[in-house]
Amino acid sequence: MSTDTTDLPAFPLARQCPYQPAAGYQELQGEAPIRKVRLFDGKPTWLVTGYEQARALLADQRVSSDRGNPNFPNFAPAVAILRRARASAPSVLIGTDAPEHGRQRRMVIPSFAVRRIAALKPGIQRIVDARLDAMEEHGGPIDLVASYALPIPSMVICELLGVPYADHEFFEEKSRLRLDEERGPAAFMELREYLDNLIKAKQANPGDGLLDDLIAEQTKQGRLDREELVAFAIVLLIAGHDTTANVITLGTAALLENPEQLAALRADPELIPAAVEELLRYVSLVSALPRVAKEDIEIGGEVIRAGDSMMIGLASANYSADFVARPDDLDIHRASRHHVAFGYGIHQCLGQNLARAELEIAFRSLLSRFPELRLAKPVDQLEIRAGFIAGVVDLPVSF
Ligand code: HEM
Repeated sequence: MSTDTTDLPAFPLARQCPYQPAAGYQELQGEAPIRKVRLFDGKPTWLVTGYEQARALLADQRVSSDRGNPNFPNFAPAVAILRRARASAPSVLIGTDAPEHGRQRRMVIPSFAVRRIAALKPGIQRIVDARLDAMEEHGGPIDLVASYALPIPSMVICELLGVPYADHEFFEEKSRLRLDEERGPAAFMELREYLDNLIKAKQANPGDGLLDDLIAEQTKQGRLDREELVAFAIVLLIAGHDTTANVITLGTAALLENPEQLAALRADPELIPAAVEELLRYVSLVSALPRVAKEDIEIGGEVIRAGDSMMIGLASANYSADFVARPDDLDIHRASRHHVAFGYGIHQCLGQNLARAELEIAFRSLLSRFPELRLAKPVDQLEIRAGFIAGVVDLPVSF
């Protein structure tokens, strides 16, 4: 790719509204489904904004997720810093290609199958009910992030993995700080050390979580070494809490800002599963996924050359005219299930069944417990969290 990037639009664009992607992506998409943009480090990258093109590339074996590739795009300074700091750590799932990726994914996929997740639902409901009781006891206004949206997925992933929830403040903070330009590498190392110690303790004294299963089955058969085991723990713990938490938070804000949709949902709770899909599309938590081409790829009237990097826009695909009409409208009656909020292809979110179960229970229970739920701070005064996963610092609500 040409290195003079001064005329290219900068990427990423900042959100103006906490619960919707930056409007600028739709404008870029109107120009072309694939186009070049400029990263913070001045390097060019392809931005893929079309729905069909995004799915095609995410399912294309010529497209790599290998963070070790020198051309892999860094979409923020903190990401570049963290990537250098953890260069020697093994890649697990998100950063690996076939066939290695398939080997790793097969080890954990049974734990996330629909039937296994269905069995977790009563436990999730208990966690949710306890949070609602605590909120009611406290009274409003209260921060929905700290009191509800974050503890639910955090407790659920702890139970699933076999990580003590008592340590949640530590790992929630470190996982957030890992994307801080100055403190990121140290936070990541502390998280790694914490999980390394936890795994050592589990080896001496096994429990019954997913990490214990991995230790028992995979390491004994020599299919997984210690370093990889720690890397699995990091990926699952990080991917499993902040993401779902932010969809609960931003989805609640979006519903409260769309009273007619909220009223329709309250009137017919059977709509909850469809509403969750629409909220996943509408919020589009992960704006784009980084990739690099291993071979030349002709797509959307362009040729992506071997070695070119790309950012595959999930938010723009979810708002693209070839996927939905009136994308800016939240419409819980529409069929949104084929959104790409969980990605697509071999890396499509491993935890999506779990996330859906948590989201359905969290929204249904919150709305039924608090018929008068409302925002205690106007949306335009909410502090949008910096970073690639959308979020707000807090969401004060009354009820
Ligand atoms: C609403 C919440 C969630 C959203 C929006 C979300 C989004 C995503 C996306 C976009 C990817 C694709 C990454 C890529 O292709 O590079 C992904 C992968 C992944 N997610 Fe989620 N996720 C959510 C919840 C969860 C939960 C609860 C877990 C539980 C552990 C989880 C675990 C993972 C893992 C392990 C991967 C990597 C899969 C692979 O590379 O094969 N996610 N997620």
